[in-house]
Formats: sequence, C-alpha cells, structure tokens
Amino acid sequence: MTASSAAVAPRLSPGSPSTFVQAMPRFEPRPLDPARLRPRRTAFSFPSSISKHWLAGSPVQSHFFNAINLFVVSFEDFMARVMRARLPNLEEPDFARQIRGFMGQESTHSFVHAKYLQNLKAQGYQIEGYLNASEHIFSQWFERRLGSRISVATIAGFEHLTALLGEIILSSRMLESAEPVMKEMWEWHAAEEIEHKALAFELLKATSGSFLLRMLGALLGALVVAGFIGVGMVMLLRQDGVLWSKRTWRDLKTLLFGPTRMAVRAVSIFLEYFRPGFHPNQRDTYALAEEVFRQQATK
Ligand SMILES: [Fe+2]
Ligand SMILES: [Fe+2]
Repeated sequence: MTASSAAVAPRLSPGSPSTFVQAMPRFEPRPLDPARLRPRRTAFSFPSSISKHWLAGSPVQSHFFNAINLFVVSFEDFMARVMRARLPNLEEPDFARQIRGFMGQESTHSFVHAKYLQNLKAQGYQIEGYLNASEHIFSQWFERRLGSRISVATIAGFEHLTALLGEIILSSRMLESAEPVMKEMWEWHAAEEIEHKALAFELLKATSGSFLLRMLGALLGALVVAGFIGVGMVMLLRQDGVLWSKRTWRDLKTLLFGPTRMAVRAVSIFLEYFRPGFHPNQRDTYALAEEVFRQQATK
C-alpha cells in the first residue's frame, strides 16, 4: 500500500452535496492485531491554528515531539526501502505479508508526519538543512555505505526504542494536555509502534543470528534517536530564542526526570535488548495500544 492511498478524502455530507465534512475519525479505529499487520486509513489535517508550543505550552515538551517529527519522515522511508529489498529473501509467505504490513504502517507514519512539517515551515522554522542532512545520512551512509545487514540491525534497534517510547508516552499519559489533533497523531503512531514492535527484530533474526550485529544495531539505533532528537530540539529551541532560558532547562529536567521518569525508564527498558534471550513480545504492552484504538472507536 502506498502512503498516499492511506489518506482518506472526507465524504460528502448527506443533504449538503457541496459541503465537505470530516466524516471519519482521524485514524481508522481497527482493533490491535499484531498477527495481521496492516496500515490504518488516516484523515489527519493540521490547521495553521495549531500553536508552536502545542504540548502544555512548553517549548521543550513540544519540540521533543517536533524533533522526532523532523527525522522520522526520512527514517521511516529508509526502513521501508531496506525491508522491501529483503522481501525476495523471505521464504515464508506469512512473514513476508507481515513485513509488507509493517512497511505500510511506517509509510503511513511518514506521510502523516510529512504533512505536519508544512506547519513547522509555515511557523517560520528553518528546517530544510536538517531534513536534507537526515535524508542524506540514512540513504547514503546507512543504506549505501553500511549496507543491508547493518541497516536491518539498526532498524531493529530503532524499533525497540520506538516501542519503549510508545510505552512511556502512553502509560504516563504525557499527551493529555496536547492540542487534540497532535495528541491523536502521536498516540496513533505510538500504538502502531507497539503493535508492530516485534517485526524488525524478527527480520534481523531471519537475516543474521549474530549477537554482535544485534548489539551494534542497538547502539546505532540509540545514536540515531538520541542524536536526531537532541540536534532537532537544540535547533528549534534556538530558533525560538529560548535555548538558554531558565525555563527551558527546568522543563528539560522535568521531561527527563519528572513524573514520567522518561530517562530512567528509557535506559532501563533499552538495556533489556542486551539480554541474550530477549524478544520484544516479552514486554506486556499491547493493552496500552489496545486502549488507543478502543478510545478512537468510541469517538
Ligand atoms: Fe513509525
Ligand atoms: Fe515502527
């Protein structure tokens, strides 16, 4: 499925044929189904009224997510390309179908996040250099120079991090005070990250049994996540003119060590990946994603 086909046009309202209305929720409320991965249809749009600091009025909290938004567009496209290239090597039709479902979900994430980039540009943020650099790093450094095996290992490590971030975001309800469309977008993405958390790990196992390669992928995945979030946050906070303000550093301390205990939980869950018998399904997190899809079904 292509990314563009994942977007759903609004339907005509009965009785008012010339008026378009948002006739479906922002994402299809299909229940969690890790055994049969498929992208959900989406109908996200991001009005210009979304504020720059859309999460709790905090530049730090908002730019934490905005920084992820900046690089995941090219990273998720990179994942889809790497996995598509591995498809001919997969002998089990069920596994190949699951990989295609994973690719469809990631392509849809990339499509929706690319839409939101237009808001950041319209708000005056200078992000072209960052976007070009991230595209170059994933397509040239990883895909061309490091090759398929290291790329698959990096993707598996990265997916462990997105699943753990999804778990922290949903379990701590850290998006409760976000503007509604942003809350729905990030909760939908977090829930699908949890739904497909095992797929890249399974692909790595099918590609290579090397424990060392798995560890290298974990470190590269962590470097990608920490590096791109860090650089993106610094860039956006600097452009806001608040990089060195006291509030910024206070908010950063709260984000990492406050009620969500993000830093401590992230490091502790990340280290589970280094256990020889580790598998992503050993963490019981599906209920968090189920709740997101259930809530959407009642809207
Ligand atoms: Fe994703
Ligand atoms: Fe993912």
